[in-house]
Amino acid sequence: MHSKKVTKIGVLTSGGDSPGMNACIRAVVRTGLYHKLEVFGIVRGYSGMIDDDIQSMNSRSVANIIQRGGTILKTARSKEFLTHEGRRKAYDNLKKRGIDGLVIIGGDGSFRGAQVFSNEFDIPCIGVPGTIDKDIAGSDFTIGFDTAVNTAVQAIDKIRDTADAHDRLFIIEVMGRDAGYIALHSGISTGAEHILIPERRTDIEALLRSLQEKEKRQKLVNLVVVAEGDDFGGGNEVSRIIKERLPNVDIRVAILGHIQRGGSPTCLDRVLASRMGYSAVEALIEGRHNVMVGIVNNRMHYTPLDKAVKATQKISEEWMKIVKILAS
Ligand code: F6P
Repeated sequence: MHSKKVTKIGVLTSGGDSPGMNACIRAVVRTGLYHKLEVFGIVRGYSGMIDDDIQSMNSRSVANIIQRGGTILKTARSKEFLTHEGRRKAYDNLKKRGIDGLVIIGGDGSFRGAQVFSNEFDIPCIGVPGTIDKDIAGSDFTIGFDTAVNTAVQAIDKIRDTADAHDRLFIIEVMGRDAGYIALHSGISTGAEHILIPERRTDIEALLRSLQEKEKRQKLVNLVVVAEGDDFGGGNEVSRIIKERLPNVDIRVAILGHIQRGGSPTCLDRVLASRMGYSAVEALIEGRHNVMVGIVNNRMHYTPLDKAVKATQKISEEWMKIVKILAS
């Protein structure tokens, strides 16, 4: 716990944006104001902290944003914040305004930065997991995952219609450079035959055997969902290998890309973002520092930032078993 009482807090969004970040900013600002704190919005994440792009926020600054994707505070991945000089500039800009607490909405890279910063400059930092990837330990959900995965599901359902019409094999690439949750959840909920994720080695021979076997028994629709960071390097690569080995298969690739990061957040993401934003400010007021706010078993949960950045959620063997059994 931190002994000093916070009076002025800053909020920023950092790393890849995710739908629901705006709802979280709104919750931070309004909870802060409720507790008579001054609240500042830091523009473009840590870059704005270094460049002194910091604005005072009031209740109206966050009106009409709960339903909007993206982030009104903008976001960035700052290289300069990785250096001590960069962090020193950032600290000076906070200090001249008297900002004595920070809420950082972002992913593990953002929390790593917060951890180093607050160890150097004694500013309590509270992390809020905002990433479509859902790859952070210490929370069952991250802000934006539900929206992103539902966007993917809607798109894959549409692809299934045309796949069915042509009896085609479709390789669908979803986001996730280091994490397979979007692939896993969207794949299971659209009945994909195979799901390839960065956390598991892809057994390409087994995949080819299974496609051949399905072709023999004339299984008509075949969807393979591939995370962009699978060990073959995404949808186009997987398709190239299949074409090479099974030249008669009619195959198409669809890369869903950044549409998964945009759009109006789902109810689940808005509620999650509101609860987490509220709890982040409460945590600062209670004197907590360097923790990430999470939701575990539907209750608020605080994980030390250093633990949250080290561990990731694990994908168990059972998930893969479900995929295999249900796709037969
Ligand atoms: O971390 C979120 C994420 O959308 C990943 O799923 C994806 O690999 C990455 O960001 C893409 O980043 P960028 O928008 O910088 O290309």
